[in-house]
Amino acid sequence: MKYPISMFPTTSPKAKPQDESKLGFGRIFTDHMFLMDWTKAEGWKNARIVPFGPLPIHPASTVFHYGAEIFEGMKAYRLADGSVQLFRPMENIRRMNNSARRMCLPVLDEEGALEILKTIVKVDADWVPHQMGTSLYIRPFMFGNDPHLGVHSVSNATYAVIMSPVGAYYAEGINPVRIAIETEDVRAVRGGTGEAKCGGNYGASLRAGEKAEEKGFTQVLWLDGVERKYIEEVGSMNVMFKISGKIVTPKLTGSVLPGITRKSCCQLLRDWGYEVEERLISAEELFKAAESGALEEAWGTGTAAVVSPIGELNMDGRDFIVCGNRIGPVTQKLYDTLTGIQWGTVEDTYGWTVKL
Ligand code: COI
Repeated sequence: MKYPISMFPTTSPKAKPQDESKLGFGRIFTDHMFLMDWTKAEGWKNARIVPFGPLPIHPASTVFHYGAEIFEGMKAYRLADGSVQLFRPMENIRRMNNSARRMCLPVLDEEGALEILKTIVKVDADWVPHQMGTSLYIRPFMFGNDPHLGVHSVSNATYAVIMSPVGAYYAEGINPVRIAIETEDVRAVRGGTGEAKCGGNYGASLRAGEKAEEKGFTQVLWLDGVERKYIEEVGSMNVMFKISGKIVTPKLTGSVLPGITRKSCCQLLRDWGYEVEERLISAEELFKAAESGALEEAWGTGTAAVVSPIGELNMDGRDFIVCGNRIGPVTQKLYDTLTGIQWGTVEDTYGWTVKL
């Protein structure tokens, strides 16, 4: 093993959730977690699987003061034969390393990181839920923990993996969500940290999210931070639109998260014969398309959100119902195919799944 792992099993395993239809998202955690320390002088060391629980962290730690933190989101799926598989884990590992480079955190050896993920999921494999639509959400994260207050790249870091049995991310489930386009706050600017998966991006999004929720919207859709004109992403998912038969999705300008579900959906759509345009798309273009009836479907893509239909779009009082506030045929086909591959009911001709 690239990172030899010491095992410290729990002596008091927790009761597993009885009713898998009420899992929600990210509130219940498995019995164990993975931890590994890094120092600039010694590299990665002390890989261990320990009982899930609080972490002792120095109060001056870089993560608390200067936001030196990155994370990933991925899932393990239970198949009908009881086995468990991951979906494109190497994509998450590579994206995590890209985020690490942007935030001056240490990178992980790719194969070593995959071994860690497989090992920790195997240890808590009984926690992978069985009911259709559920999965084990895996949250790898890394933070700087130098115990002093100077602003500098870190010399000490911790890599951790925690896991949570989950159902749907949105209370709406697969029903359409209501999305408000945010015109005041911005999430990211070019040259900033938008394409890294770092906690700060999400912290900066909370105020707009709260405001949208107060008005009854599920989440906000961000505009670019430079011209404040082009659609970028929703905080927990990338977005795609079907306009006059073509699929349009914001291109990866550097301030948009390069979603793995986004990438997978683009590939599926192209293979089904759709023209997929990854380009700038302004809010104005979107509203014009909605007004003229050219906007046929809208949906979000993400690990947590999977494929979520967008039923309503709002911006500064202008409001549009998309696809009669119902899930459209392309959204449904994407959801069925992607989740079919993930849960093993549709043949994986792409080699995206990795058995434990
Ligand atoms: C994911 O889809 O895994 C995410 O990270 C989105 C969100 C829960 C932050």
